[in-house]
Parts: sequence; structure tokens; C-alpha cells
Amino acid sequence: MPARTSKTKRRGLFISFEGGEGAGKSTQTQLLLKRLMDVGESVVLVKEPGSTPLGSRLRGLLKGEVSMSDKAELLLFLAARAELVTTVVDPALDDGVNVIADRFSDSTFAYQGQTRGFTQALIADLNQFATGGLSPDITFLLNLPPEESLRRTRPKVELDNRLIADVRQAEEGQQKFESRPLAFHKRVAEAYRKLAAAEPERWCVLDGRQSVDALSEQVWERVQDSLKKAKRNARRRTGVPVGEQGRPRLI
Ligand code: TMP
Repeated sequence: MPARTSKTKRRGLFISFEGGEGAGKSTQTQLLLKRLMDVGESVVLVKEPGSTPLGSRLRGLLKGEVSMSDKAELLLFLAARAELVTTVVDPALDDGVNVIADRFSDSTFAYQGQTRGFTQALIADLNQFATGGLSPDITFLLNLPPEESLRRTRPKVELDNRLIADVRQAEEGQQKFESRPLAFHKRVAEAYRKLAAAEPERWCVLDGRQSVDALSEQVWERVQDSLKKAKRNARRRTGVPVGEQGRPRLI
């Protein structure tokens, strides 16, 4: 079955951001959200796992509130995604609203595929089930050398304490997380490189070492191109001008 994308039956663009920790996804998704709203586009920003009541609860669990097996972890990421697609992403795209996702299905290939050893075929099946085959129109990979990911995330304490190498109690009783080892970042980076190479039309690989502004410009250029194309296609299909009718909307 061909992947179901917003190109086939929707007017909303589905844009995802991927990359290792510390790559700047949160900053870039926020900047893109603002740019789209500034030009009068309806847009929703979601973050995985999260952005639904269930997803937010699962995020806490996945970030280390309880320990769990690798299989349970995989299924919880997929449960969060199913809920997000069903209740937020699909309805928004159906409504002509653009959706920006801070991580989507590719994260599961990169993380659970590479660091937990689940096969790509299994993850593909589970993603298909959870999303109904929904695939982003554009995926930005904010690419960082693994050494840089390690450097940027070292001081960050709000890390997934189950996935990282070691968790220690600090003397004050506070949880203190050691960063994931370099090998972990290398595996994730390599997985993303392969995913992007396999689908060059969907992926836009950007050098994450660039300045915030330079990255934001490149993202915006690509999104503007896709918006123009989507609007042209929609006009061709329906004869109705698209885009002018939507008020800026943040759900
Ligand atoms: P973040 O909010 O800093 O991006 O953290 C989310 C963490 O969850 C990050 O370590 C990547 C991980 N993750 C997976 O392992 N699999 C997934 O499918 C998703 C969406 C995230």
C-alpha cells in the first residue's frame, strides 16, 4: 500500500523535524510555527511523545518515571503516536491545517531500531498500524556529528533516564543523569543518515552546526516551496483558491 501523505488527499502540509538530542529541533519548530502564522497559515505544533492528554502521561513514563522492558517502551511510543495521529494530526490535516511535528515515526526507526535492536520491518508494521500509513511531506534532519550531540546534551538533566547509560542518585537525593555514551549518538546519527538516503525527496538534511538564523532560513525556503506546490495542486484539483480563507490558528 502506498504511504498515505497529505499530498494525496489533504491541503495541510505535514512537516516533521528529526535528529539526535541537542540538535535544535525545539527552536526550529517554534521559529517555523511563527513564520507560518505570520503569513496567515493555520498551523499546529506537536511534540512526540506528547501533545495529547495520553501522550503527556506516556512521556512521563517513557522519560523514566517507571522502569520498563524494551518491548513495552516500543509499544508506548507507538501508543502515544496513535493517539496523536487520531486525535490531533489527522483531523488538523483534514481541515487544511499545517502540522509541524517535533519527532515522528522516523525517531522510532532511529532509536528503537538502532539502540534496542528491533527490526526495521517490525517498526514499519507498527508505525503503519499506529498512523494508518501517514508520512510527513517534508522531514528536516538537523544533522550533528555524534561528538557534538554528546557535548550539547551533557549538561542537560531533563533526559530520558531509562535510555541513558547510567542513572545515579546525587548526594542531595536529586536524580542525576549521565549522558548517553558516544556510541549511542553514533548509532542514532547513522540510522538517520540511512533513513534520509533512502527517501531523498522527503528528507531535507541540514547541518545542525549552523546558526539558528541560517537554519531557520533554509527551513523556511523549503517550506515555502512546498506550500506553493500544495496550493497549486489543490487549485488544480478543486478550482478553488486555497490558503486565503484560513485565519492563523494555533491549537
Ligand atoms: P526529546 O523530547 O528531547 O526529543 O526526547 C524524546 C526522547 O525520546 C529522545 O531521547 C528520543 C526518544 N524517542 C524514542 O526513543 N523513540 C521515539 O519514537 C520517539 C518519538 C522519541
